[in-house]
Amino acid sequence: MERHPVHGLVTVAQHIIEQQRNHPTATGQFSWLLSGITLATKIIESYVRRAGITNVLGETGESNVQGELVQKLDMIANETIVRCLGYRGNIGILVSEEEDEPRIVKNSSGSGNYIVLFDPLDGSSNIDVNVSIGTIFSILHKREDVWPSDGPEKHVLQPGIRQLAAGYVVYGSSTVLAYTTGDGVHMFTLNPDIGAFVLHQESVRMPDVGKTYSINEAYRASFPKGIQDYLEWAKTDNYSQRYIGSLVADFHRTLLRGGVFLYPPTKKSPEGKLRLLYEANPMAFLAEQAGGAATDGQHRIMEKNPQHMHERTPLIIGSKSEVERVHEFLEKG
Ligand code: AHG
Ligand code: MN
Ligand code: MN
Repeated sequence: MERHPVHGLVTVAQHIIEQQRNHPTATGQFSWLLSGITLATKIIESYVRRAGITNVLGETGESNVQGELVQKLDMIANETIVRCLGYRGNIGILVSEEEDEPRIVKNSSGSGNYIVLFDPLDGSSNIDVNVSIGTIFSILHKREDVWPSDGPEKHVLQPGIRQLAAGYVVYGSSTVLAYTTGDGVHMFTLNPDIGAFVLHQESVRMPDVGKTYSINEAYRASFPKGIQDYLEWAKTDNYSQRYIGSLVADFHRTLLRGGVFLYPPTKKSPEGKLRLLYEANPMAFLAEQAGGAATDGQHRIMEKNPQHMHERTPLIIGSKSEVERVHEFLEKG
């Protein structure tokens, strides 16, 4: 798209509206919804940047549905997103990593048709040590074939191929938003001086090869044999290993530099640790839109039919040829 930048500045709001023009059926509803998400991430970013001096570090003392200790910033991020999206009028259901059940959003105009699924703060274990963390989101449309009497789960449990949009914000050395609506992956950097996400890269392509693997090798002994064999091979072929422990940060690096991120089944997490609906599916959409691939070791992530809201999945995601090579070892395994 030929750009006529005003002073070279294209904000995410402008970009979303331009993207709408590629979807004649899309209405301004969608850009209104996405602007609610970007607003929420700007508020979360302001907490993250001051975490150490605004008493938001540490744990709340509670555990969530995942059985994980909830960090204060997890809850602040969750409440911020719920508040920013709850009054947008066109959202019907919110699904959060931090909430057991789907949240039905009711407002004067009835209930909206969009579903927003999100991990409000990804990489919580890194908050207190100032390592990059992030927010992940995925957007679905309510299903047409669900009776009002059916519970919200029927709307929520849709395969990743039905996503209308997906994205993340990584709160790193700079705050970067990446999103896709199915027309490529586009990246924006938050300019704190003007409080706007400004376009810095359109149609990002993931390098098809990348000699970096990203995995928590502490669990090596309980990985499937094919994964163990792949890791041994990679070491003989001069791969480097990078692991930040925040999916958003590890994925962001993989998207830009190529390589492969793996969270296989382990003894502790036999289904894998990462959640299908609001971690694996959005990242898989972005990876595929950038020319990469995402599987669970057997199936394409985006074709998995979820059975439960907080369902976990193994995840192998990155450069197409790197994911294919992991599969070769799994098949031999
Ligand atoms: P969350 O903080 O939302 O629970 O996600 C943490 C996830 C993911 O960000 C990361 O890839 C993974 O946990 C790291 O797990 P290990 O500490 O087991 O390596
Ligand atoms: Mn997470
Ligand atoms: Mn989280």
